[in-house]
Amino acid sequence: MGTQHRPDRMHLKLIIWRQQSPDARGKMVEYEVDDVSPNMSFLEMLDVLNESLTLRGDDPVAFDSDCREGICGMCGMVINGRPHGPNRGTTVCQLHMRAFHDGDTITIEPWRARAFPVLKDLTVDRSAFDRIIAAGGYISSNTGAAPDANAVLVPKDVAEAAMDAATCIGCGACVAVCKNASASLFVGAKLTHLSLMPQGGPERARRAVRMVRQMDLEGFGSCSNEGECEAVCPKGINLSAIATMRREFHRGIRQGAK
Ligand code: FES
Repeated sequence: MGTQHRPDRMHLKLIIWRQQSPDARGKMVEYEVDDVSPNMSFLEMLDVLNESLTLRGDDPVAFDSDCREGICGMCGMVINGRPHGPNRGTTVCQLHMRAFHDGDTITIEPWRARAFPVLKDLTVDRSAFDRIIAAGGYISSNTGAAPDANAVLVPKDVAEAAMDAATCIGCGACVAVCKNASASLFVGAKLTHLSLMPQGGPERARRAVRMVRQMDLEGFGSCSNEGECEAVCPKGINLSAIATMRREFHRGIRQGAK
């Protein structure tokens, strides 16, 4: 049985969205990169490109990153038409070049959504998510010192649903892939996370109404149950979070929350 040969170094053609500023006209620009190790992360590969651009006096490609270990939600770009690239459950900082082949052509674009305007190249303004969180995505009840673990009883399935939703890192891939540019999976994850636990109870109704209204004000579209958001979410947030968002919103309206 033969084994597939994998070169130690790869040569790639990159077609990248370049846009100097929010109001400038952008365009796709071709680059060649050599000396890419299959063990590099995708962002390290872009670092290699940027080093060569800088050395020859060109403007490096702007992109966001921070932790580079899949936990902060800063990185995000559309790679070959898919947010965060070809691997499921993977942020772009955790995507490795072994997912590609020597000689491949890779297209790289920013998140594209009205509520996420491009700042420069691959960086977009995701402060719309911050404003949704500021509208109600917090718990302001003073819970005092840490109580004994058995003092506040939470059924295991409820705690697990809340913790699963809490893994949302707010990267915005759900918006980027959605044909409606809907933020429903993000808002649903935050409402599921904060509303199911007892500490989130006092602000539950108000939180849901305010966060959903802010989502609409920011210009995100409605959900039409396509399910692409769940498919590209690097944290595997379940589509049921959107049903939770709708239930929480209607519950809040019924209770007269503003
Ligand atoms: S840089 Fe933090 S999740 Fe990718």
